[in-house]
Amino acid sequence: MTATVRTDPTVVNVALGARGYDIVIGRGVIASLGARIAALRPGAKAFIVTDDNVARYVLGDAEAALAKAGIAANRVIVPAGEASKSYRVFEQVCEAIIASHIERGDLVVALGGGVIGDLAGFAAAVVRRGLDYVQVPTTLLAQVDSSVGGKTAIDSARGKNLIGAFHQPVLVLADTALLDTLPEREFRAGYAEVAKYGLIGDAAFFGWLEANWREIFSGANSSGSFAREHAVAVSCRAKAAIVGRDERETGERALLNLGHTFGHALEAACGFSDRLLHGEAIAVGMALAFDFSARRQGLVPKEEAARVARHLADVGLPTRIKDVAGPLPAVDQLMELIAQDKKVRRGMLTFILVRGIGSAFVEAGVDQREVRAFLSEKLAEQ
Ligand SMILES: NC(=O)c1ccc[n+]([C@@H]2O[C@H](COP(=O)([O-])OP(=O)(O)OC[C@H]3O[C@@H](n4cnc5c(N)ncnc54)[C@H](O)[C@@H]3O)[C@@H](O)[C@H]2O)c1
Ligand SMILES: [Zn+2]
Repeated sequence: MTATVRTDPTVVNVALGARGYDIVIGRGVIASLGARIAALRPGAKAFIVTDDNVARYVLGDAEAALAKAGIAANRVIVPAGEASKSYRVFEQVCEAIIASHIERGDLVVALGGGVIGDLAGFAAAVVRRGLDYVQVPTTLLAQVDSSVGGKTAIDSARGKNLIGAFHQPVLVLADTALLDTLPEREFRAGYAEVAKYGLIGDAAFFGWLEANWREIFSGANSSGSFAREHAVAVSCRAKAAIVGRDERETGERALLNLGHTFGHALEAACGFSDRLLHGEAIAVGMALAFDFSARRQGLVPKEEAARVARHLADVGLPTRIKDVAGPLPAVDQLMELIAQDKKVRRGMLTFILVRGIGSAFVEAGVDQREVRAFLSEKLAEQ
């Protein structure tokens, strides 16, 4: 007898008219990959893009699921890591897709974390002027964030994600059991984005996370808990709703960048290295965004900012600049990175600020000097 309890998967729809699609969430859903593709695109071939870690753990299941539905599939395996979002690897992926005679009507399958989703999604956006693709996200970050919404990209030497396209997938299949092999540090980093949805617009969800995060991490369905599945579903619903209203980030979608201005600057200051994973940077960034908001005309009570930092710290995420390993960046460097990341208009920056847990808003008039003073103070804290 197996200890894993299975229930029907949860389906979240991304309502984008003709470009709309389902996100299917549940333990073991990868077994249905072939059947779902066959139903969506009868007779289509598939081409899997994955990395060498994911290939070890998940590729066999994905290929078996496709074979079971009679779907012919080729694949390319790229090295794991952000470095694969390069022109060179992008070229390899595109050429491999073309070499395997994938045509309009066939499907690319992005099997992996955000790196693979962004890389394979961008290849799908441009090979033969656009192929359909399926996201099979295998990290928590990818399941709750990068696989949904259609942003695809590779990196330029001058900055991350600078070469890309909006290209929505035709299906997202998020198998929460795949997260069992994810290194705990990666899982925790992805959790920062889960918490973000609570902080942006759902105070009740944030409260639920405070009470249930341990079950999310353990994924222990044997005790009848489906906390992980619920967390992924609520996160996807939140992102799907925002993307459905603002696909190309002309307004509301910017709220998803809560914590990302401070976070990106810290990530860049660490050279996008293992010193600080994206989700870890965002945890610090969100704590700083609450702190900054609390000082600013008393937007949010100090206790509420402290509550946010406490929860992030409880799960083991960094919340202060000094929690980042290694030498601290200088305030000048951080300000330069922030100015690079954001357009500065007459000395003013646009930030995502908060009135409280669950109520983030876009503030276009944040004075650079105010940010500098805040960061100087934070850097001086012992
Ligand atoms: N497109 C978007 O909207 C969007 C949003 C957020 C982030 N991103 C991008 O996502 C990327 C980060 O994604 P990520 O955090 O998933 O990183 P990642 O894809 O590098 O995965 C993290 C690590 O986990 C490994 N891994 C993946 N699945 C595994 C599994 N099931 N078991 C064991 N190991 C596994 C990977 O090989 C890798 O070493 C960045 O490039 C970022 O720019 C994109
Ligand atoms: Zn992020």
